[in-house]
Amino acid sequence: MKTKAGAILSSIRIDRSLDRKISVQLYMGLRDIILSGGLNGGERLPATRTLASELGVSRTTALDAVSRLISEGLLESHIGAGTFVSHTMTGRAPVVPQTATRDAGRQPRLSPSVIQARALFAERRRLPHKSQAFVTALPALHLFPMAQWARLSARHLRSDRDAVMGYGNPYGLPRLRAAIATHLNASRGIQCDPEQVFVVGGAQQAFSLIGNLLLDRGEKVWFENPGAIGARNAFISQGAELVPVAVDDEGIVVEDGLAKAPDFRLAFVTPSHQQPLSKVLSLARRLALLDAADRADAYIVEDDYDGDFYFGDQPLPTLKSIDTNGRVIYVGTFSKTLFPSLRLGFLVAPAGMVDVISTLFSAALSGVPTWPQAIVADFIDEGHFSTHIRTMRQHYRKRHEILHQHSRQLEPYMHIQRALAGFHTVGYFRDTERSETEFIEAASAAGLTLSGIGRYCLAPIERKGVVIGYGAASESEIRQGVDVLAQLLA
Ligand SMILES: Cc1ncc(COP(=O)(O)O)c(C=O)c1O
Repeated sequence: MKTKAGAILSSIRIDRSLDRKISVQLYMGLRDIILSGGLNGGERLPATRTLASELGVSRTTALDAVSRLISEGLLESHIGAGTFVSHTMTGRAPVVPQTATRDAGRQPRLSPSVIQARALFAERRRLPHKSQAFVTALPALHLFPMAQWARLSARHLRSDRDAVMGYGNPYGLPRLRAAIATHLNASRGIQCDPEQVFVVGGAQQAFSLIGNLLLDRGEKVWFENPGAIGARNAFISQGAELVPVAVDDEGIVVEDGLAKAPDFRLAFVTPSHQQPLSKVLSLARRLALLDAADRADAYIVEDDYDGDFYFGDQPLPTLKSIDTNGRVIYVGTFSKTLFPSLRLGFLVAPAGMVDVISTLFSAALSGVPTWPQAIVADFIDEGHFSTHIRTMRQHYRKRHEILHQHSRQLEPYMHIQRALAGFHTVGYFRDTERSETEFIEAASAAGLTLSGIGRYCLAPIERKGVVIGYGAASESEIRQGVDVLAQLLA
């Protein structure tokens, strides 16, 4: 390419090892030269044939890149005369090309709440996404009835376009709200109207919304210690003061909460399956907690994340089902009953809170995607949901039993807590001097995923150990994993 333009354009570098298409690389190279003033308005480009052969790309590729720049107004084509840099570029100040743009990394000026929250956040890493021993939080993805899901999914994508593609109802798809209310009544003993059910982007979003609605800076939140990391971070973001409340064999110790913060505004609990210690909140404690909330004019967040998977014949009644004074905000998720990438959860508001939550949702939020909600609604209505839950309950019970039986060999070094629900439990080190971090690192090097109980603690506790998930791994992976634990512990 003998012209000035030709010389400049031959500086474009095409890298075939990149994921980016060649025509896009060429387009970006040309665009950056024009924007940075390398070529001026009115300058003629070499013919695409020449450009292509000089840069070692096909003519179609060169044509693609040039046509895109013409459609974006950076180039002009004059029939019979050739292609030119657009006259609108004449006299424009050069722009630093986007491909090379790096801002100076200036530290942002943050709100005081964020500065404070950031210092207090517990590290939450990336949540698990790979089924293996002993990840927590992941259900048995390989047992999900994908064929049914695909059928319902296809049906919805073919249905009425306004319903599928328009803005959805900010409170949630009415059919799904109704289906959730029916499910909660049948399986969790909760009597609620569909209007009390709000569909959200996972339980985590519900925690943030509840904090936003109820908490002012410095207000006290009773928080199970150890307790759920995501919820804890959500309340910290609101500037709340988190009060670590002890957990024993009966769940959260209400007396401890009363001694530390009788003037609490909110209590966060996981009654069906304490996260992470795997205890079930006793009925006496449930009543005491409701009573304490009444006296303090406080609310309770009941996080029932995996309560559908109880192992006994009958679970204890949910807090929400025995709450006669509208103190409990119940939070559920489809992350465990279906799968987490759905990002669908829900909250059930006390009747007196429906109005204000509706206002918040309709004024400031725009809801969650509609068609996944429609699929879930059908999945529930057609009975697949309850069948899947029943099947998975058996599955998790069996996996738990295998873990328990096989881990007898660990007893001299580690006591595995018997779980009554869900798909994770804890293993306590007999030697309280053992480092959780070192053990987890050694386990990780041996291919096992574990997390330390300490991560879940707002204030240190005496017992040490690890959280062990058994839902996502196969029977043989659980057995092999326990054998590895035995070697590491010994
Ligand atoms: C205690 C607890 N609550 C709720 C959830 C579910 O959160 P989400 O619905 O945002 O996936 C999890 C996820 O692991 C959890 O551990």
